[in-house]
Amino acid sequence: MVPARYRVADRTDESADTVTLTLEPIDRPIPTPGPGQFSMLWAFGVGEAPISLSAIDGTRLGHTVRAVGPVSRALASAPVGATIGVRGPFGRGWCPPGDDAGPAVVVAGGLGLAPLRPLIAALVAARPRRSVRLAIGARRPEDLLHRGDLRRLVDEPGVSVDLTVDVADRGWRGRVGLVTDLLDASTVSGTEPMAYVCGPELMMWFTARRLLDLGLAPERIQVSLERNMHCAIGWCGHCQLGPSFVCLDGPVYDWAEAEPLLAVRGR
Ligand SMILES: Cc1cc2nc3c(=O)[nH]c(=O)nc-3n(C[C@H](O)[C@H](O)[C@H](O)COP(=O)(O)OP(=O)(O)OC[C@H]3O[C@@H](n4cnc5c(N)ncnc54)[C@H](O)[C@@H]3O)c2cc1C
Ligand code: FES
Repeated sequence: MVPARYRVADRTDESADTVTLTLEPIDRPIPTPGPGQFSMLWAFGVGEAPISLSAIDGTRLGHTVRAVGPVSRALASAPVGATIGVRGPFGRGWCPPGDDAGPAVVVAGGLGLAPLRPLIAALVAARPRRSVRLAIGARRPEDLLHRGDLRRLVDEPGVSVDLTVDVADRGWRGRVGLVTDLLDASTVSGTEPMAYVCGPELMMWFTARRLLDLGLAPERIQVSLERNMHCAIGWCGHCQLGPSFVCLDGPVYDWAEAEPLLAVRGR
């Protein structure tokens, strides 16, 4: 429960309200996290919030934070050199396809790209055995995160990047519409892919439905759920969803597990 002290080594502004912090340990580092896991970040004097890993580089951690309330605002405004407390890593992350696996489809909506970023890096590093298809949606062009990564990935052989926005501006030359519109029969043709989906809950729901309609098995679709968290170690029950504790059993679930959990919440 005691946070390790990390220093803000770098900050990248992603959009008007979202920043990626690179944190390096001041003394002891936390154990190396995996893609899809999260940390509890302490803004000292303000509070603590669960934030996914958006980059993992040795003992340096990347966290992409959207300022929505007191804690996230304090984290997002932390300057280079500031000290932040880190507990973790927590939760069950993305389960990458095995070595013999076929293609991967990654579907991100808005801030959902951040927890998928370390997974995308791992999938791309595992080519040429595997093709990687990215379908990414944002509200507006200026809300697209990690644009430097996206520019680099466009030029990678074996990787396809499709972008869409809800509302375009004059400079936008890409697609306009829902991220589900980027998914068609070609998305699941050939060897059955593994699909990784993260974004607002409704977006994940409709994306999973679309992938199921296209013939993908529920066990091959993974989603990452968000719930209010306090302890992150299964003590407090804040994150409980039906019989599941999202901090321990999630945040990543396959769709066969996630669908009944989301239905519990809707009752
Ligand atoms: C496993 C996990 C991973 C997360 N990863 C990230 C991440 O990578 N980057 C990031 O910016 N945020 C992430 N979040 C969400 C982040 O934890 C919350 O936005 C943060 O706790 C808000 O705290 P606050 O004090 O700033 O705002 P609060 O005052 O607590 O909330 C401000 C507003 O945000 C809403 N809100 C708060 N927490 C959540 C939540 N968990 N889900 C949906 N709405 C919420 C509140 O209802 C309120 O409207 C993650 C959450 C979880 C559970
Ligand atoms: S956050 Fe306390 S039990 Fe999950």
